[in-house]
Amino acid sequence: MTTARGLIARGSSLTVEDFLLDPPGEGEIEVEIGAAGVCHSDLSMVNGTLAPSFPLVLGHEAAGTVIAAGPGVTRVAPGDRVVLNWSPPCRDCWFCARGEPWLCETSGAPSAPRGTLPDGTPLHVTLGLGALATRVVIPARAAVAVPAELSFADAALLGCAVLTGFGAVRNTARVAPGESVVVFGLGGVGLSVVGAARAAGAGPIVAVDVSPAKEALAIAAGATDFLVADDALSRAIRGLTGGRGADVTFECVGRAATIRSAYRSARRGGRVTVVGMGARSDIVELSALELFHSGRTLRGCVYGAADFDVEIPRLAAAVLDGTLDLRPLVTHHATLDESPAAFARMSRGEGARTVVLL
Ligand code: APR
Ligand code: ZN
Repeated sequence: MTTARGLIARGSSLTVEDFLLDPPGEGEIEVEIGAAGVCHSDLSMVNGTLAPSFPLVLGHEAAGTVIAAGPGVTRVAPGDRVVLNWSPPCRDCWFCARGEPWLCETSGAPSAPRGTLPDGTPLHVTLGLGALATRVVIPARAAVAVPAELSFADAALLGCAVLTGFGAVRNTARVAPGESVVVFGLGGVGLSVVGAARAAGAGPIVAVDVSPAKEALAIAAGATDFLVADDALSRAIRGLTGGRGADVTFECVGRAATIRSAYRSARRGGRVTVVGMGARSDIVELSALELFHSGRTLRGCVYGAADFDVEIPRLAAAVLDGTLDLRPLVTHHATLDESPAAFARMSRGEGARTVVLL
């Protein structure tokens, strides 16, 4: 039994508390967390968008050091620096066998409780990780080793925002050089999409947010234009895209209304990628005739539609050789005790990623 400390939610109330973890069992590892990002999906756990079980350890975008391994673990060893995967594939089901591990049949299943509060209450963990904590015990397949020179902060961001954003651009939308792009929502995920679109040679790259304060962040991440989401938005987007709408649009908010805006902002024959994770009850209405006649493609993108084990080492190498700069994604650093403030900021739409250093 080890003692860990983490950010625990009971509904919308967030507190930093000690809890107890069993040592790693067969196929499991214990990881000392070095850094964890605060992602909107964590906020969705506590603001009513999703309905998880409580008490819940928050956090699913993280990196750390393996400190113990249970029997049968061969893919990582104590001392390894690892990035955590919130949807580790089984490598055995129909989807994994056909090379689509991000759609693994085990993904999205509620995770078993892990650890207990000092009074014995079982704890639930966000997306199988619960990584806004000093330690986690997880299946070894939910960790991939990266070079020790990669900072914990950069490694953590690779594990959700960066993989999601780059994967949406490269794997789902397959953005080509010279294509026009519109990105809705400029948090860590949307800014990562902007950076990936820039790296793919797209242009113009139009960034859209409700908050005018996001302009500087969007431009620093690689956007060529910034628009505030208001009543004149559609006209402004057409003005920047030859009157037709964009070749490719991305929704990085997680709401039906912005999915509709992203859909309407694409040109005839354009591609619309839904990156945001919305609520089950938030229904997108599309005109049947428009869907047919516009010839647009509407696709969801789960976790970058990427093989985590292949893509994370590649992204890590790009950070280390200087071709991928993650600084534009991060606006705040915090300690674990300061992490509740990061959730408050995120719900006000302020800043982008907060990286919590453990
Ligand atoms: N139009 C445009 N932008 C909007 C709108 C809107 N109607 N409503 C909110 N936004 C902006 C916010 O101002 C904020 O800048 O969307 C951004 C969302 O950023 P974050 O809260 O930092 O979220 P992020 O972590 O980037 O995640 C985005 O991807 O993985 C999913 O669950 C996650 O659905 C969420 C999405
Ligand atoms: Zn996330």
